[in-house]
Amino acid sequence: MGFLTALFLLFLLLISTSRAKYEPNWESIDSRPLPEWFDQAKFGIFIHWGVFSVPSFGSEWFWWYWQGQKLKPYVEFMQRNYPPGFRYQDFAPQFTAEFFDAEEWTNIFASSGAKYIVLTTKHHEGFTLWGSKYSWNWNAVDVGPKRDLVDEVASALRAKSDLRLGLYHSLFEWFNPLYQQDAANAFTTNYFPSSKTLPELYELIVKYKPEVLWSDGDEDAPDKYWNSTGFLAWLYNDSPVKDTVVTNDRWGYGCSCTHGGYYTCSDRYQPGHLLKHKWENCMTIDMKSWGYRRNAPLSDYLTIEQLIATLVETVSCGGNLLMNVGPTHDGRIAPIFEERLRQMGQWLKVNGEAIYNTTAWRAQNDTVTPNIWYTSKPKEGSVFAILLEWPEEGSVILNEPAAIQGQTQVALLGHGSLQWEPVKPSGLRVFLPQLSFRWMPCQWAWTLRLTGAT
Ligand SMILES: *[C@@H]1O[C@H](CO)[C@@H](O)[C@H](O)[C@H]1NC(C)=O
Ligand SMILES: *[C@@H]1O[C@H](CO)[C@@H](O)[C@H](O)[C@H]1NC(C)=O
Ligand SMILES: *[C@@H]1O[C@H](CO)[C@@H](O)[C@H](O)[C@H]1NC(C)=O
Repeated sequence: MGFLTALFLLFLLLISTSRAKYEPNWESIDSRPLPEWFDQAKFGIFIHWGVFSVPSFGSEWFWWYWQGQKLKPYVEFMQRNYPPGFRYQDFAPQFTAEFFDAEEWTNIFASSGAKYIVLTTKHHEGFTLWGSKYSWNWNAVDVGPKRDLVDEVASALRAKSDLRLGLYHSLFEWFNPLYQQDAANAFTTNYFPSSKTLPELYELIVKYKPEVLWSDGDEDAPDKYWNSTGFLAWLYNDSPVKDTVVTNDRWGYGCSCTHGGYYTCSDRYQPGHLLKHKWENCMTIDMKSWGYRRNAPLSDYLTIEQLIATLVETVSCGGNLLMNVGPTHDGRIAPIFEERLRQMGQWLKVNGEAIYNTTAWRAQNDTVTPNIWYTSKPKEGSVFAILLEWPEEGSVILNEPAAIQGQTQVALLGHGSLQWEPVKPSGLRVFLPQLSFRWMPCQWAWTLRLTGAT
């Protein structure tokens, strides 16, 4: 070997060993920069689907509320409607999915303006929506639909849209005897994670290559028990999605809001102020459940005005919104969910410029006029003021931006430029056009784009 070749090989060796390698400890795992696409995306759809979609009563926690906590409404529901001796397992054959069409789902998701989805591949009941080798006879290929639902969703999403695939996975399972045994040993043994959770996670990542891994069901046991940092080091160093995958913070007792990728903190997390660390607000259109509920009245569904307000506040404060729908046992996305998703898409078509790829501004909401939230695009010199209400007086005061006459320009997205005047001691008054209803750029919240303002 020549000297130059040897030098070159040494050079390659140096490059490869100096490449960022993540070690199985939180300091190293937490140092990984979040792949950029996630902050740019801002809006995703959560899908809670599983055997719990069969009773579709109360919540996706049905099994636990019925047989773990023995809550009266659940016990009575079973007594009234099912024969004695009926087990939760007996719901699985009724998880039929006969109307499930992954292309139709993809079409609905894409129409919402979302940039990613997160599908429950296994909730706390332990039933896997894919044909896992590690969930013998308790998966959608062996029982119920007899189809690999994860594969169908992943394939249609990739073939028919540019949405990114995210997979939800519950670390624990309420009634798994191996988990219960470890719990009885105060998590000093790890029969369950080593033979179930971790093999399943590797299988999911290698098979479906998700770009979001949404972990849950972690809280009762320490992250050491789950081998979370060991798994994440593999995910970030060696997995097929090591460069693009993002993950959340639910990796063991005490991890939430502290470790992992982006923070979810608690369900429906909405801090109302800017967070330094990237975060996500996961919430659900049916206020009372993530899984489908047959008996949900209209008043339990958030209105499109409420959903847009949630998206806007979340993005202003640096978060992403993950908005949940619960499909039915037969694979439909009920029209009420479909309508909300399509409405969100209509709104984003006009106002997406103030949502996607934006950065939180120095102020999140206006201090004088209520219900105004700000976002920005520093590179383009734009500040966006999103008005959740149409001002009654024909004009609106924005107290936060510093506007300069002859330089600052204001436009209503979907309409065009507007007049404004300075206000003392600071801010500006923007004059809104008198538009008849059908000429409004959109129906629910309106965006003013300011350029040349600071
Ligand atoms: C934890 O994860 C690492 C990295 O994947 C692996 O090498 C190790 O064997 C795992 N430990 C246990 C106890 O499963
Ligand atoms: C956001 O920015 C990325 C990277 O520059 C770009 O690929 C993407 O198209 C942008 N998205 C939108 C909706 O503008
Ligand atoms: C808006 O900002 C003010 C002060 O900056 C704050 O007190 C108020 O709670 C915020 N409004 C909302 C709706 O969060």
